[in-house]
Amino acid sequence: MTDSFDQLKQDCSQCMRCSLGSTRHHLVFGVGNEHAPIVFIGEGPGEKEDLQGVPFVGPAGQLLDVMLQLVGLDRTKVYICNIVKCRPPLNRDPSPEERDACSEWLQRQITLIDPKILVCLGRISATTLIDSAFRITRDHGKWYERDGRQIIATFHPSALLRDPSKRPEAFADFREIRAALRTLQPDCLERNISL
Ligand code: URA
Repeated sequence: MTDSFDQLKQDCSQCMRCSLGSTRHHLVFGVGNEHAPIVFIGEGPGEKEDLQGVPFVGPAGQLLDVMLQLVGLDRTKVYICNIVKCRPPLNRDPSPEERDACSEWLQRQITLIDPKILVCLGRISATTLIDSAFRITRDHGKWYERDGRQIIATFHPSALLRDPSKRPEAFADFREIRAALRTLQPDCLERNISL
C-alpha cells in the first residue's frame, strides 16, 4: 500500500507507543509545505505547541520565523516538525526510548516529503539524526549525507534566546543552508538576496 499524508496523520494521531501519548493535549505532527525541498526538525513540542497542536509557535518559534525570513524563507516554503510529536512533561529532553518510539512517524514524513535538505535544530535532533556523538558547538554548520539527503545542524532557537551571542554563528549556518538550497532547488527562493 502506498503511504499518504492523510494516512500518516491518521495513524500518528492514534499513537500511544510511549507514555508521552497519555500526557499530551495535542499531538504536534508538523506544519508547512508537504512538498518542501527542506525540512527543519526540532526536538519536541513545548507548552504552547502542545496546547495548539502546531510546532514552534512559542518564543523559540518566533525567532525561527525571523531566521527563516532573513534568508528569504517562510513557513509556506519549508516543512517544520520535531523528533517527538508529543510534549515531554516540563519540557525535559525526550528519552532515547521516546525518540525510538516516535521515529517511524518522522521517517514516513521525510519519505513522503522527499526533501533535498534536512536541518536539525539543536542537539537532540542532531544526535538522533546525524551522529550520537554530535556536539552542536563543534559540529554545527557542517554538511553530512544520510540516506541520500544533505543534512546539517544549527543551534536550537531556544538556545539562541538563552544566549544571543550564538546568533551570528546560527545566522552563518542559515546562509550556508540558503546557498545549498539555491544550488539544489533554486525555484524555492524567489527573492535574490545576496547575503
Ligand atoms: N522546541 C522544539 O524543539 N520544538 C517545538 O515545536 C517548540 C519548541
